[in-house]
Amino acid sequence: MMGLLLRRALLLSVFTFTAGLDSRLESNPFGQSLFARHSNIKAQAANIVKRALPAWLAASPIHNIKRRSTEQGDSCKAIKGADTKLAENTHSYTFNDLSGSVSLAWVGDGTGVILALTTFQVPFFMIRLGQSKLYRSENYGKSFEDVTSLINNTFIRSEFGIAIGNSGKVILTGEVSGGLGSRVFVSEDFGKSFIHRDLPFIPLSQITYNPDNSNVLLVLSNSNELWLSEDFGSNWKKIQDTVCLVKWGRKNTIFFTSSRNGSCVDRGMLDLKRSSNYGKTVKTVASKIYSFGLGGRFLFASVMTGRGTLRMIHVSVDQGDKWNMAQLPPVGHEQFYSILAANDDMVFMHVDEPGDTGFGTIYVSDDRGTVYSKSLERHLYTTTGGDTDFTNVTSLRGVFFTSVLAKDNSVQSVVSFDQGGEWVPLRKPVNSKCDATAKDPDKCTLHIHAAYSTAMKLNVPMLPLTEPNAVGLIISHGSVGDAISVMKPDVYVSDDGGYTWIKALDGPHHYAILDSGGLLVAVEQSLIKPINTIKFSTDEGQCWRNYVFTKDPIYFTGLASEPGARSMNVSVWGYRDALLSQHWISITIDFRDLLTRDCGDDDYVQWLAHSDDISDPKDGCMLGYKEKFLRLRKDSVCWNGRDFEVNTSPTPCSCTLDDFLCDFGYYRQENSSECVEQPDLKGKVLEFCLQGKEEQLQTSGYRKIPGDKCEGGKMPERKEIDLSKRCVSDLVGPELLIDGPSSKSVPIVITVLIVMVLSIAAGVVFIKKYVCGGRFLVHRYSVLQQHVEDNAVEGMDDPLDTDHTQNGKIEFHDDSDEDMLE
Ligand SMILES: *[C@@H]1O[C@H](CO)[C@@H](O)[C@H](O)[C@H]1NC(C)=O
Ligand SMILES: *[C@@H]1O[C@H](CO)[C@@H](O)[C@H](O)[C@H]1NC(C)=O
Ligand SMILES: *[C@@H]1O[C@H](CO)[C@@H](O)[C@H](O)[C@H]1NC(C)=O
Ligand SMILES: *[C@@H]1O[C@H](CO)[C@@H](O)[C@H](O)[C@H]1NC(C)=O
Ligand SMILES: *[C@@H]1O[C@H](CO)[C@@H](O)[C@H](O)[C@H]1NC(C)=O
Repeated sequence: MMGLLLRRALLLSVFTFTAGLDSRLESNPFGQSLFARHSNIKAQAANIVKRALPAWLAASPIHNIKRRSTEQGDSCKAIKGADTKLAENTHSYTFNDLSGSVSLAWVGDGTGVILALTTFQVPFFMIRLGQSKLYRSENYGKSFEDVTSLINNTFIRSEFGIAIGNSGKVILTGEVSGGLGSRVFVSEDFGKSFIHRDLPFIPLSQITYNPDNSNVLLVLSNSNELWLSEDFGSNWKKIQDTVCLVKWGRKNTIFFTSSRNGSCVDRGMLDLKRSSNYGKTVKTVASKIYSFGLGGRFLFASVMTGRGTLRMIHVSVDQGDKWNMAQLPPVGHEQFYSILAANDDMVFMHVDEPGDTGFGTIYVSDDRGTVYSKSLERHLYTTTGGDTDFTNVTSLRGVFFTSVLAKDNSVQSVVSFDQGGEWVPLRKPVNSKCDATAKDPDKCTLHIHAAYSTAMKLNVPMLPLTEPNAVGLIISHGSVGDAISVMKPDVYVSDDGGYTWIKALDGPHHYAILDSGGLLVAVEQSLIKPINTIKFSTDEGQCWRNYVFTKDPIYFTGLASEPGARSMNVSVWGYRDALLSQHWISITIDFRDLLTRDCGDDDYVQWLAHSDDISDPKDGCMLGYKEKFLRLRKDSVCWNGRDFEVNTSPTPCSCTLDDFLCDFGYYRQENSSECVEQPDLKGKVLEFCLQGKEEQLQTSGYRKIPGDKCEGGKMPERKEIDLSKRCVSDLVGPELLIDGPSSKSVPIVITVLIVMVLSIAAGVVFIKKYVCGGRFLVHRYSVLQQHVEDNAVEGMDDPLDTDHTQNGKIEFHDDSDEDMLE
């Protein structure tokens, strides 16, 4: 068996990254050194060892983590009467429906209300013939009611999905008279009743809710007009013409770019505008804009520099009143910036390399979003598809993983446990063997299949899964070798945030986390044979039991459970092939009776996150504090409950220079933790400058790493140096408008990967799942595909953009502007 390497995939060298750990300064095309290295002296101190020997080969690896517990044997005991209990709680529902796709949306938290929209569409000459049906469940999917009459048999544009707002609001976007008119169906009672509203325009994309007030709706029309409704769709007013891109900011603010002469193709000549009163007044906050994005408390804009087609990132933390240039390299028209992840503390920014290399560099910002440190080079991010594996591991603070493109174009996974300070390969799972991609059969690493693998149409039905309330848990497809393998992947589980892994299941599966991690379920992906078994684990994936949920197997298309991983109900979706017809089937299993008792104090044990050496007083310190969690014992078979809350007791660590990054104009010399002033900047005019007065006047050379909460210990001496004299202004002001050559269409400017799950199955069936607004899930099964395989392939390439709102905050999201270009 040969291990086929992906076309672009690797023999990763750790050396690629250690190069990134140098204190070397990079030059930008203006011939100035701009990048002070942040980082991690711990990594630098360890460099000698690591350079000589990659971390995972070293005799005493850096992260010498013992598994939290392995109570194997014990935990694999059968659960008494499991089959009977589950059989009593299995509910099957057959849809009398032949449609090609089903969209599912959960309405409200813990209400059990699910809307299922099926659509059947055939392209017929120039018009689309389509039919939609709407179903509604009030019991977590155990049974549905056909409520198609509520939408008067209107064809619903399923590509816009089901838009769910707060307090039971739902919007479905319909099409009337063959695409010439548009009408929405709105509900304010969790989809029990709908009323229709005719729109004075045809929407270009899904209508968006104001995150702070679901009565206020915003949408772009297909002729680039910006429309707003303050009364949940009854009345609409046009705010502006020739709008290219629009996003909700915080506190009822709207940001949009508009074009002066009416063409959104004219990138780099756009104005960025803001309205804080729903369009009554509109203020231009920046000009010569290529694109913009929001992330955490930061507003980013890429602005033309006036030098050829080069553009640069500017940042504002006050909604666009004051701007600072980000200390990032400028990019040309064929390159792009991408916000990979952002919160109020910091941002991960990807900067594409010149040329179609498929990779770029990740930078991490300081707390102002202006000073950046190089974090990872050769970071895989395709220019054409916009695919990257970058993933925030939401189950453990500070952990991120992604892929790098090695010199030989193979792809390899790397993980960072300290918010981008240091990246290392993932350790080989103890219970798996290196595959044929490994040169040495005993020494290799784990590779994670994420968005890139699904884009490459490998048989990877789901992206990696983590949930904030299932502490430490990661479930993912992967392979074990020197590079990502294109062979059939297996499912791997980590229970400590990615330090250690076990192989949990053979072959591709769909999986879901229930009961805050107390219960995992998985169904094998099979393209050709119908299935009737669901696997479940009560010990975080170490031991799996089978339950046969039906006598009459179904063709499986996907698992659905309420977003948030608190449910105990999971639905297996699929269809049965009767003579000449197919019917959608949803089989819902309620596991509540299986875990008969509620968990008590004895069921939880303390766990110190990021711990590798208990004798070290700094053990477990991550960004200045350590956290102990109460976690369910692996051998406890009990119910966390819907109200389960993550129990953590953070304790501060004392500061070292590790807890600081070098401020603007300073850098770290090799092997030194001290920040020194960049000699080449002495006496020179800086390209980058901070506008706020307080910032101008003083810098100590050190700044706390964003989010770092260390106390006492080593605090760097403060030095006050007036940098303001060397500052030049920024470029965003309208007064600085220079007519430079405009750049031609580049679809991706600032893009961020949010929750996007594409499920792929070649052959008979394909389905698609994605989460939108945190509460939206789609399955698509293509009937047409049986005849035209290409259709399926096309379908899988649809970029799905999702507005992901967490805790009322808008996470950065970008539509990659593609819509605007045509
Ligand atoms: C459906 O059509 C009927 C008759 O045309 C109309 O009275 C009713 O309001 C419509 N319902 C919706 C939700 O549009
Ligand atoms: C807008 O102006 C640019 C030059 O600034 C020009 O190239 C472009 O064709 C114009 N577009 C329209 C629609 O007039
Ligand atoms: C990563 O996810 C966690 C949990 O959702 C969140 O708190 C954190 O802000 C995220 N980090 C970034 C940089 O987006
Ligand atoms: C499972 O569904 C039932 C309704 O069928 C509901 O009463 C129960 O609360 C759900 N369980 C969970 C944990 O959500
Ligand atoms: C840093 O330390 C390494 C290993 O001790 C050494 O080879 C290298 O020369 C040092 N670099 C500097 C600039 O001192």
